Amino acid sequence: MNSGYKGFEASWHDLFWEVEEAPSELPLMERFLRAKKGKCLYVGSGSGRLLGPLVGAGYDVLGLECSSEMARLSRESFPDAEVLEEEWQKHEGEYAAIVIPAFTFQLFLDPQKQLTRLSEQANSLYLTLFFPWAEISGDLPQNEWYFDRNVVLPTGETGELETQHKIKEQVGSLVRKHRYTLKDTSGDIVRREETVQRLRFFTDVALKNLLKKTGWKIEKEINNLGEGDDEFVYVATLHLSAVAN
Ligand SMILES: C[S@@+](CC[C@H](N)C(=O)[O-])C[C@H]1O[C@@H](n2cnc3c(N)ncnc32)[C@H](O)[C@@H]1O
Repeated sequence: MNSGYKGFEASWHDLFWEVEEAPSELPLMERFLRAKKGKCLYVGSGSGRLLGPLVGAGYDVLGLECSSEMARLSRESFPDAEVLEEEWQKHEGEYAAIVIPAFTFQLFLDPQKQLTRLSEQANSLYLTLFFPWAEISGDLPQNEWYFDRNVVLPTGETGELETQHKIKEQVGSLVRKHRYTLKDTSGDIVRREETVQRLRFFTDVALKNLLKKTGWKIEKEINNLGEGDDEFVYVATLHLSAVAN
């Protein structure tokens, strides 16, 4: 299954991140990569919004991206940052470290298999995962469309994002439908696109078991991208090392 981004989901990706005003993951990735010697792989490098600055700062990082639209955006904006256009599950290689920020790992439906595979390609791994508290607590309604965000596009038109989700807490599955609507300056709908994301999420205990089973040891854990209090961990960033066997 190809979970690569297409259409409005690809072209509006960075604009939606900007309006979210979440802290940038870039300093966290830099901190992880600083001591690495040799080529590192960035899985799901997208539009290059993080890859470009990393390469610009001198880090030896290669992008891997399965969506041709995202890879094209990345090459246009950051021509110096090399991007392989390939699905991670089919990629072969060995690296000093692998980084998978921005929840991309949760798009992989078989996390145990992929964590094992990752340990065959690198013995150091950076992962950022989110936990869907708002969906679990019922703060966001299940099975109905709700407004998510909108952006004013450079053309003056509006890009609107609505979301609908279905969550199965026991098995850690979250299916999110996204409805992207392009509206002209008078608010009339020009075009609509829908996508579906099938995500996995993990309780702390489930994640620790999974990492243990697949031979990864937690070296460092950063909550909520290093900001806010830690009462609820919405986002966890992990520095992992492969346990020698
Ligand atoms: C949540 S976005 C994050 C993009 C980028 N890391 C960022 O923070 O801007 C996930 C990206 O991973 C890509 N992707 C999803 N599944 C993939 C896979 N199996 N192999 C490679 N790339 C994948 C998508 O096309 C998308 O560009």
